[in-house]
Amino acid sequence: MTAEIIEGAPVAERICGEVAAEVARLKAEHGLQPGLAVVLVGDDPASQAYVKSKGERSRAAGMHSVTHLLPGDTTQAALEALVADLAADPAIHGILVQLPLPGHLDEMPVIELIGPDKDVDGLHVVNAGRLVAGLPALVACTPTGCLMLIKAALGDLTGKHAVVVGRSLLVGKPVAQLLLAADCTVTMAHSKTVDLPSVCRSADILVAAVGRPRMIRGDWIKPGACVIDVGINRVPFDNPEQAALGKTKIVGDVNYKEALQVAGSITPVPKGVGPMTVAVLLHNTVLAAKRQAGIPG
Ligand code: GUN
Repeated sequence: MTAEIIEGAPVAERICGEVAAEVARLKAEHGLQPGLAVVLVGDDPASQAYVKSKGERSRAAGMHSVTHLLPGDTTQAALEALVADLAADPAIHGILVQLPLPGHLDEMPVIELIGPDKDVDGLHVVNAGRLVAGLPALVACTPTGCLMLIKAALGDLTGKHAVVVGRSLLVGKPVAQLLLAADCTVTMAHSKTVDLPSVCRSADILVAAVGRPRMIRGDWIKPGACVIDVGINRVPFDNPEQAALGKTKIVGDVNYKEALQVAGSITPVPKGVGPMTVAVLLHNTVLAAKRQAGIPG
């Protein structure tokens, strides 16, 4: 048996199309153009690629889009001053500060300055708290995208055992809350979990968000399980000659080849969860713009 492959790209395309239509409607009926600001500190190539894609996608959907590229030695005060300006700018409805920040910067005060209304990443304590409380919130983009893909693959999730490996603010914690809200029984596993393979083997839904290449092996997966791989890890090519030339490729947190033989459904890397993150970011920005303008829906 080979697992069904859960392609994120077509779902993401559909969402981006819906967002573009809604942006056009908001412009025509309300004179409102949703605006997104993306801030990147430093020159990490992967982050540069993500930020570029966020800018391109938001412009393609008809949004007002600004990107601020700051040098790696930017001070906390300078970053906070920029974010405070964006938070006060009425043309900007969503602010995303790309993470991780360089080590000398502290992300939490920056997220605090974004404020809950423009926090399209769902990282502000008010949005994180509202998610836990079951109140309307801006919810982190990658976790929302994961839930959409899981529901598309499985339908009703009631009573399923979901295991989330990884406990980050950006993915692990919010995805666990979303699975709980969908009536799953949720286990959160992490680097200190005892006998992680056995815990993973008990999962009907396994979400891997640890940032360790191919850590989850085929024999950690329950036959027929739905496997969602959030990892984006750059590794040398398997072929030693190509690896010696410095060639690299992107792999997930799951050993895909092995998992494909055991799982019922699985997201590939790339083109699985990845494209969903940007699509949900655009969706969240439209939602934020409507709430700020007092437009229902
Ligand atoms: N880095 C990787 N994914 C994300 C994301 O969804 N939001 C932010 N702010 N940084 C990220």
